[in-house]
Parts: sequence; structure tokens; C-alpha cells
Amino acid sequence: MSELKSQVAERAFDVLSKAYEFHAADDARREGIYPYFKPFDYHDGPEGVIDGKRVTMFGSNNYLGLTTHPKVQEAAAAAISSFGTSMTGSPFVNGSIRLHGEFEEKIADFYGRESALVFTTGYQVNLALGSALLGAENSVAVVDRSVHASIYDGVRLGQAAGGRMVRFRHNSAVSLERALSKLANNESALVMTDGVFSAEGDIAKLDELIPVVQKYGARFFLDDAHALGVIGPGGRGTAHHFGLEEKVDLVGGTFSKSLASVGGYLVGERKVLDYIRHFAPSFMFAASGAPSCTAAAMAAFDVMQEETWRLEKLRENYTYMKGELAGMGFELSDSESAVIAIFVRDNERTLEFWRMLLEDYSVYTNPFISPGVRPRHSLLRTSYMATHEREHLDRGLEALRSAGKALAVI
Ligand SMILES: Cc1ncc(COP(=O)(O)O)c(C=O)c1O
Repeated sequence: MSELKSQVAERAFDVLSKAYEFHAADDARREGIYPYFKPFDYHDGPEGVIDGKRVTMFGSNNYLGLTTHPKVQEAAAAAISSFGTSMTGSPFVNGSIRLHGEFEEKIADFYGRESALVFTTGYQVNLALGSALLGAENSVAVVDRSVHASIYDGVRLGQAAGGRMVRFRHNSAVSLERALSKLANNESALVMTDGVFSAEGDIAKLDELIPVVQKYGARFFLDDAHALGVIGPGGRGTAHHFGLEEKVDLVGGTFSKSLASVGGYLVGERKVLDYIRHFAPSFMFAASGAPSCTAAAMAAFDVMQEETWRLEKLRENYTYMKGELAGMGFELSDSESAVIAIFVRDNERTLEFWRMLLEDYSVYTNPFISPGVRPRHSLLRTSYMATHEREHLDRGLEALRSAGKALAVI
């Protein structure tokens, strides 16, 4: 060991040096303002327990509140009885069960599409797109600047194999047009955007973006992770929200939000998905979704369609919160979904706001600070559930008002 260490010391550069020189997290831990990786002792959806203290939850993606639904929990337990706890292998070789295929059919039907693929996570869906579709020299990913990290990671896989990436200004059809108009004749673009943006809850303006996509003969991918179960008729997401579902080539999403589980999905044409099935390492070479996860998501998917009051209650809850927060004078994101961001525009004040809410008012939120967001865009992300009762919401509002005033956010 010591011989190994001394050899490292002799090199001009150590790949681990960046870890040794990274102090921000330790500094924040020392100051008691480190807001990430907080372990819950208990969690029932609208409420949880952290460090022995009950908190009201305004920081999850459990939009329909289905993580504790009896049908969802029973489906997970039954799947464990039938298949055990894990498939211990990838779908390509030994990890497929009928449940995955049945769920794929249900998802495809729901979206009115030819085909669907079920992935182990939503993250892997976006890796798959990049590696399978964006690796040729004349393929170009044209990406909204604010998309989720997984889309960027996927695109990087494509870039490593010769593809190109161009970014357009967030939600700007003008900027998209500028990007597409510069493509060479022999290039083909996949335009990629989130449907509902995860930090600010704003909706991609498909009514403006899609005509441009069509004008330039590009293909279109929509990541609807935060839109399924939240917007669109029956919770079908962003494309259905605009009535433009026929114009979207591929829709991806996750089971880890409204569907109260872990996993991902992609819908589109059978031929395209079959190609991805055979050429995307993140699909082929990672263990398939645990039976309990797939069964839970599938049960949640059914409950979402049976208990339509959840979609309505969710909308009622976030509409109420948006109105009340705006009335208090907070600067809010342009949200039309279950995520509402409160702009604080200062990293330290955002962290202090988060800490005060949690420690003094037992209210859990998510702070987003730069470099995670653009400078002067630091914000507190709040998110809402169908299972928040009015008393939860009012508790949150009172806390936000008091802490917001104390810190001169309002
Ligand atoms: C927009 C978006 N896409 C993809 C993902 C990844 O999904 P998963 O949690 O299933 O890996 C997330 C998760 O946060 C997301 O917000």
C-alpha cells in the first residue's frame, strides 16, 4: 500500500486530487447548512420524520401520493412472493419477466403508441437515446439548455461516438429555429426537451417549438418525468396537454415520481424502440427493474387511471399554493405544474431559508443554488401532492411567510 502511495506521489497529476481539494460540502456540514442526502427515518408522503422530528413534506415528487396506497404496496409484496426480490440480471439475458412486457403494453396503449420499453431507471432511458440514436457523425442533439442532467449525459455518449450537440435558449422557439437553420443538409436533429422542467415546474412550449421542429424535418423527444400524472388529460403529460401527441416521436419518463416506484419508460414506434432495445447498453447491460418496483409502478399506473380525483386534487393543491404564495409577494417561477419555485436569487440566503424552514418550522423543501442553477437564479423548490390536505398546505404557507419575512425574501 505505502509503495503504491509513493508511486502516486511521484506523478505530476493525481486523478483523485479534485476530491481532496473539494471543500464546499465539508464547510457547509461544519456550518450546519448542508442540505443534501438527508435521511428520513419515516415517510408517509405528506409527512416524514427526520432526526426524530416530524416534518411536512414539500420536497418530493410523489405527486399522486401513491407510495403508501394499499394496492401499490400489495402489488409490490405479491411480486416479491412470485419472483423474489431481484431479477439479478439484464433484460437482454436473464432479467425479463412477463410483468415487464405486460406493463410495456399498458404504457403503449395509454399513450396511443405502437410500442413501449420499460427501463431500470428514467436516467437510463436518456442514456439509451444518446448512445443508440445520437452517435453517428451526422446526428445532432438539439437540446433545451435547462433539460435534466440525464439528457446531457446521454448526449455526451452520442458525442463520444461522433454526434454533435447544440443547445437552444430555454423554451425559446426563436433560438431553436436559429439552431436548426444552421444544420448542414446531411445532418439530422433530435430536438430534446423536458415536458415539465424539474426545478421550476414550467411547461415546455410545445405549441411554439413543434412547428419549428416540423419546419426543419427534425425529430422530437420529450422527457415527461414530471408531467405524467400531473398535466394533460388523464395525466398523459405534455404532448397531450397541447393536443400535439401525434407530432412527438418519442416520449420518455420515469416511475420514480407519480408512479411511486423506481424505473423508466420510453414510448414510440416499434421499429425505433426495437433498435434501442438492441443498441443501448443502458438498457441491455443493467439489471432490469426489480419485480416489486415494476409491479408497484404498474399498480400505481392503474390507480392513477381509476382514482382520477387525485389528478384533480393535485391541480387544486398546486393552484391554491401558487395563488397564496404570489399573494404573499414571493417571486415565483412560471409554473403550471406541481412544482413551484420560489426565487431567492442568493445562494446563502437560499440555504438559510431552507434551514430555517426545516429547523424552526418543520417544513421540508429543496434548495437549488449555483452552480446547480445559473448565478442569481438560486431558488427554493417546493412541490405538491394529491394527498396534501389543506391543513398541510396552510402549515407550509405560514412557515414560508414567517421565514420569508425574517430573511427579507418577501
Ligand atoms: C426530467 C427528468 N428526467 C429523468 C429523470 C431520471 O429519472 P429516474 O429517477 O427514474 O432515474 C429525472 C429524475 O429526477 C428527471 O427529473
